[in-house]
This record gives sequence, structure tokens and C-alpha cells, in this order.
Amino acid sequence: MSFDLSVIPNKNIIVGITGGIAAYKSAILVRRLKDAGFNVRVVMTEGAQAFITPLTFQALSGNPVHTQLLDPEAEAGMGHIELARWADLVLIAPASCDTLAKFAAGLADDLLSTLYLATSAPVWVAPAMNQQMWAAKATQRNLATMVDDGVHVIMPESGSQACGDVGLGRMPEPEELARQVTDYFHKAQRAIAEKFGLLASKHVVITAGPTREAIDPVRYISNHSTGKMGFALAAACYAAGAKVTLIAGPVSLDTPNGVRRINVSSAVQMLDTSMQLLDEGCDVFIATAAVADYRVAEVAEHKIKKSGDELDIALIKNPDIVATIAQQDKRPFMVGFAAETRNVEEYAAGKLVAKKLDMIACNDVSRADIGFASDENAMTVFFAEGYHLPKRDLEKASKQEIAQQLVEAIHDALHHDPAQDEAF
Ligand code: C5P
Repeated sequence: MSFDLSVIPNKNIIVGITGGIAAYKSAILVRRLKDAGFNVRVVMTEGAQAFITPLTFQALSGNPVHTQLLDPEAEAGMGHIELARWADLVLIAPASCDTLAKFAAGLADDLLSTLYLATSAPVWVAPAMNQQMWAAKATQRNLATMVDDGVHVIMPESGSQACGDVGLGRMPEPEELARQVTDYFHKAQRAIAEKFGLLASKHVVITAGPTREAIDPVRYISNHSTGKMGFALAAACYAAGAKVTLIAGPVSLDTPNGVRRINVSSAVQMLDTSMQLLDEGCDVFIATAAVADYRVAEVAEHKIKKSGDELDIALIKNPDIVATIAQQDKRPFMVGFAAETRNVEEYAAGKLVAKKLDMIACNDVSRADIGFASDENAMTVFFAEGYHLPKRDLEKASKQEIAQQLVEAIHDALHHDPAQDEAF
């Protein structure tokens, strides 16, 4: 399972559809909003139903479509007031001239116009009409009134129109509308996380993936690390309100939303970049990268040619990135990982001390069901002695859930005051 921050769970959108040829695009819009994780309910005016059927939207939204204001059966299900309260955002797309006029005048003679008056949710309109109707003074006057009333207008685009005219009045593509809605909720979510998130106002630097150590211009030494744990942690730290920089070795993963990514190849590059970021100011350093322990002593300038039966390549030790950062004067809170095949906890506890870490998360990579290329993981977390925090067992779960629990562990350690323990 991939961790997709573009998915926003549990937000309710009402899509209002009015009579215009652009109504056909609204089918895709509803689909895209559902894909993004929104709960969608559709309200259609009578005019809209002349262009496209409620059944289409019922199938796409997974909910009954609302068409009537004074239908006792519909009102008994979810009446117009409940519908108005249910919405986190009302998006009218397409919004016809007639609907804009109704909204501006405050009429309430059908379900959509009543809903407009009854909701306290933000209302967005995406007008779509013939270019002459768009330019008409009455339309522009109505729009100005609605903007004054706090409505957000998504401007129509210019181009060829279904009626044969060319000009302003085309509804933006459904993907673009869905993107704007998703962006709006992301920004709102981010603002809350930045204020109240577990890692609010922290700069978190994460190393992830393998490193690649060149042998010659075409060959290298590397390992099977996929970077999934580090990327999941980057997403979880961002969702917790942190500013996140991900130093990624060569992996084929998309950068999580909002995360700054710096691509590197070798361990030396990874260390140089980490040191630079330390200068920028870093509060938490999380080392998930599977750094190659050795690099080739002398990288050949040209491709090494096949010769004898054996080839000796001298290797020298790579710097230990996490241990080097932990030795700096202004060291951040240091988190390391230990992947072991035996004596897991013993080795991890040793590394915690040897590398001067604050916290270490270890897992048993001899288990076939977790670790490296798997989407799941199970870990045990240890804190440095000074924290007086007991070890934590994180049961087998998706890497996203493990990442979330690691964020909680980091938060707990950052806010734990051992002096308080002693007082009791
Ligand atoms: O010593 P070992 O490789 O088992 O330690 C694992 C931990 O140390 C991980 O957090 C890894 O990212 C980090 N590490 C590092 N630089 C190295 C080797 C490991 O930052 N050269």
C-alpha cells in the first residue's frame, strides 16, 4: 500500500450541478473527488437533469442524488438542512447564469438555492456559459455580489465553446477543479498541523534508501533498500506539522507531499548533505538509510575491462553518518534504525550507545514478512538511558502506521522530562 497524502479522509463535499453542457464534465469531477478520498453527495437542478441523469451521479458518488426540495421521501432521508450541515464545502460546477442570479438575489425556490442559503460551509462556484452570457452586465453584477458575500469563484477558461463561439466561459477541466479542492483542504490541514501537530515547528531531516558506491563509470556497489520506511516517516513527520527534508539515495518512490527532497548517490554525498542541513538548523535527525559500509578505495576513471579470473577491488570504510551527526556540538534529537537477523534487541541497544543516539528502532530482517522490501514492519524502540522511557514494541503494521507510532515516540521523548519522574 502506498502512502498518499493527497487522500483526505472524512471530508464532505456537495457537488451542485446546474443546467449547462459542462455538466458532462461533472461526472469526472465526482469521480476524481471520490478518488481523493472525499465523501461526495450530488445535488442537481432540474436544468442539470436535462443534460445528464441522476443515476450517473448516484453510481459515481455512491450516494443517492438530491434533486427535490419538497419531496417528503427525500427530506425524510437527508433533508436540505441536514445536507447543508453535512457539507464541509459546496462546489457548484457548472454554475449556470440562472443559478448565479438566484444566489446573488437570495432566492430559495429549489433545493440548490435553498442549500446555498442554509449552509455555513464555504461555497465555490465554477461558472460555465456562453461567452456573451458570461460578459453580460447582469452576470458580472451577480458575480460581484456573490464575491462580496464570500463565495469563491473559479474563473472560467477561454476557448472554443459547445455553441460554436470562442471566448471566456468554459468550465476548467474536472481534474483541475478536484486539484483545487484537494489543495484547499491540504492547506487547512497543514495550518492546523503546523500549530498543533506533534512535531509542529520542528525541522526533521531523514536519510532514506540505499547508497550507491561507484566502482567505475558504469558499475557500483549497493543494496536492496527500497526507502519505503524513510519515505513513510517523511510523510508522517510532515503530517505532524514538521518541516521535512528527505535525503534520498537512489530509489523509485514519489516524494511525499510538502516534503523537500535532496537526491544523493554515495554515502559521502549523504554525509555532506546532512552536515549542510545541520547548519541550516535541524531539530530531529532520522537515519533510515541503508548506507553502504564500504566504498571503493579508488574509483576507476574508465570502465574496468575483463581480464584475469579474479579481480581485487580494495574497499575502505564509509563514514558513519548518524554517528558523525550525533557528535556535533549542536546535535539534533538523533534517531537510528537497526536491521538485524539475530540478537536484535541486544545489538540495537549496543548501537544506541555506540552511535550516541537518543532513540533506536530495531527490527528482525530475518523474518520474511517484514523489513526491507515489505510494505509492513514490526519494531522495538529503545530510548537512551537519560530519557527514563521504557522500550516500546510496535506490533506488525503497515510502514505508514509504524511511521505514525515512531512520530509519537519521538514526540514523547522530546517532551519527556526525566526530572518529573524522579519527583514521584
Ligand atoms: O551500523 P548499522 O549500519 O547497523 O547502523 C544502522 C543505523 O546507522 C541506521 O540508522 C543507519 O541509517 C545508520 N548508518 C549511518 N551511516 C552509516 C551506517 C549506518 O548513518 N555509514
